[in-house]
Amino acid sequence: MKYTAPKIVTSPPGPRAQEWIARDTESLSPSLSRTSPLVGVKGEGVFVEDVDGNVFLDFGSGIAVNSLGHRHPEVIAAIKTQLDQLIFLNSMDYYTVPQIEYAEMLFKLTPGSFPKRVFYTNSGSEAIDTSIKMAKWHTRRPYGIAFVNGFHGRTMGAVSFTTTSVSARRGFAPMYPIGQFVPYPYCYRCMFNKEYPSCDMTCMSYLTDVTLKKITPPDEVAFILVEAVQGAGGYIVPPPEFLPRLAEIARLNGMVLIVDEVQTGFGRAGKMWACEHTGVAPDIMAISKAFAHGLPAGAAVARADVMNWDEGAHEGTLNGNPVIMEAAKAVLRVIEKEDLVEKSRVQGDYLKKQMVAMMGRRPLIGDVRGLGLMVGIELVADAKKTPAKEKRNRLIEEAFRRGLLLLGAGECSIRLAPPLVITREQIDTGLSILEDCVKLLR
Ligand SMILES: Cc1ncc(COP(=O)(O)O)c(C=O)c1O
Repeated sequence: MKYTAPKIVTSPPGPRAQEWIARDTESLSPSLSRTSPLVGVKGEGVFVEDVDGNVFLDFGSGIAVNSLGHRHPEVIAAIKTQLDQLIFLNSMDYYTVPQIEYAEMLFKLTPGSFPKRVFYTNSGSEAIDTSIKMAKWHTRRPYGIAFVNGFHGRTMGAVSFTTTSVSARRGFAPMYPIGQFVPYPYCYRCMFNKEYPSCDMTCMSYLTDVTLKKITPPDEVAFILVEAVQGAGGYIVPPPEFLPRLAEIARLNGMVLIVDEVQTGFGRAGKMWACEHTGVAPDIMAISKAFAHGLPAGAAVARADVMNWDEGAHEGTLNGNPVIMEAAKAVLRVIEKEDLVEKSRVQGDYLKKQMVAMMGRRPLIGDVRGLGLMVGIELVADAKKTPAKEKRNRLIEEAFRRGLLLLGAGECSIRLAPPLVITREQIDTGLSILEDCVKLLR
């Protein structure tokens, strides 16, 4: 069935959804924080159908995973072909062709003309843990530096560097021994109450003049871990000189620069990788999410001289599964064939422009920011920018009832991250629902 617009046939969550949610609550981990009571059964393009027959327009892409839209035919065909050949061969003991082919495709598309190597993982968190271990092994140094409000995942290594909220950290100490968390340039709410660019990036001076002079010896720091754009933290885009200055600090001190492109990668931010907006080629890049069209996959891509660990130092049984690698190859082909990086840039500019116009009409929207189809809006209660968290949550709820899927980020922001294949008309449909909901809340 071809979907053309959101369609609500029974007010969601409908009776079937309610039943499944009750059963889910009995059996799944209570740590899962569900945004909306959606029980999805089918996806196609930019739409998802739920168990009661309601159709939703997907403005979140499952957190930037479904970048090609749901169930892209070319990826489905690649998966089916590989299913008929070989589903699994453990890559710790043997070789498979799709892993090698994908690596060679990836190296041409990742920043830096230096020789590279890749380690495949099953998730973004695991790509971060791999990057951390690699940097430590390479430098033989103990510390890492990360940024306040950063999100890097939930495994023990990744969560040690995740500071979007204490609820992700409570109960898990002691964590990885960290040199220091330093401020990220969140210019809308500057920790130092300064204005960019006249601030000359005071937040960076904190790293150089406080952290590295008074707290953590730079020659004991293995790595700096940073998101090119903060994702879960609120779609926060740093000034363009931020990453280049960090890369320089890392280079001068022999630290490894790990750029987390788990959410920003594969065209999401209007370039294949968000760091390409700045000209920085990371020493290690962690990638996942849109990697394999929703199949569990990720990778740490590194300079060959940084990925120089010994045989047996790091491995994983399911990593680089051939079915998933064929899906990943198809994703790269589709991105190129359908010009999705350019589409992300063009549609993203349009979406951002429309949101800026809406911000002019609706004071609840305090800020609009983003790169490509990664647009964040921050909701505020007043001119003093008091975070409107309750209203943000209600806005997501109201949009859901009208057939629009939205995801929150940060304390009071919403991420607008539709599939990169979205059309202008579909963007307009989503924005019209969004504005109806904003109107309702004011
Ligand atoms: C920037 C970033 N890094 C790492 C992760 C962790 O990825 P995963 O949930 O696949 O473990 C996420 C997930 O949202 C992310 O956004």
